[in-house]
Amino acid sequence: SNLTDFINALPKAELHLHIEGSLEPEMMMDLAIRNNIDLPYKSVEEIRTAYKFSNLQDFLDIYYQGMNVLQTEQDFYDLTFAYLEKIAKEGVVHVEVFYDPQGHTSRGVAFSTVTNGILRALDDGQEKLGVTSELIMSFLRHLSEEDAFATLEEAKPWFDGRIVAVGLDSSEMGHPPSKFERVFNAARDLDLKLVAHAGEEGPSEYVREAIELLKIDRLDHGNRTIEDLALTRKLASSGIAFTVCPLSNLKLCGVANMKDHPLKKMMQAGLKVTVNSDDPAYFGGYMTANFLSVVEALDLSKDDIAVLCRNSISGSFLTDDEKQQHL
Ligand code: ADE
Ligand code: ZN
Repeated sequence: SNLTDFINALPKAELHLHIEGSLEPEMMMDLAIRNNIDLPYKSVEEIRTAYKFSNLQDFLDIYYQGMNVLQTEQDFYDLTFAYLEKIAKEGVVHVEVFYDPQGHTSRGVAFSTVTNGILRALDDGQEKLGVTSELIMSFLRHLSEEDAFATLEEAKPWFDGRIVAVGLDSSEMGHPPSKFERVFNAARDLDLKLVAHAGEEGPSEYVREAIELLKIDRLDHGNRTIEDLALTRKLASSGIAFTVCPLSNLKLCGVANMKDHPLKKMMQAGLKVTVNSDDPAYFGGYMTANFLSVVEALDLSKDDIAVLCRNSISGSFLTDDEKQQHL
């Protein structure tokens, strides 16, 4: 449609994408066969039927199970390149990809296997599709800080510009940002950028901790920030970018209906909001689908869409010169 074409034509960056969450059921079945892995599903339809979640943990259980089919460097390459091919058609010119190394090393797949497979696809994506990218390593917050420190240590050979940032994801409730203050300090000392999921299910207090204790450069989700007016004002004036994920919030029941989504209120409060897909294979859509979902439900204007796209470029970790080329 007209609106789809308008959205696709605007240059934009995806800033919140877990590459393991781009594993489509078809590829899950193919890799299960290729690697001789037993799946609890007999068909692609059965997999899709299992994708009914009532909260974040419901989803995470299925997501960690799904990633078991990823075994070889080629698997990580294929996963990543398939994602890049999809978003290149949606006007995404730049992506800052998250991955969960602990989700793989904990089941015996080497850190280097995972990282090098993803990076090789990102390099090819730049060369063959013209999509630039950065890689962000996320710590699983349900695991210990000690485990995160060990992962930081293992990743050091890739801190020469291949892994540019660390993030914090997985089960939010009961695992506040404060649990990771020291490992984030260590990452900052290594000149890495810092991001964290906060305020997805957790309270605005977790957002405050991510800002004040972890001193993050960008906030993932942050939906519940607006429950705290003082914090909202502070983050509006700081200009920190929020990576909001509409279809994710709907599928994980953060909102009962897309009409209840806080994205427009967040924009009106002066926050630098961006639109992202989170785990597109699990939540029913890539970038354009996420834009369409909020544009329709919240009656956003073409100007609003353009602002959201510009925010994604300015909120990225590109250099000022690189940003200028897209703005
Ligand atoms: N891991 C993958 N997707 C996630 C999300 N939306 N929240 C927390 N952890 C995740
Ligand atoms: Zn996420």
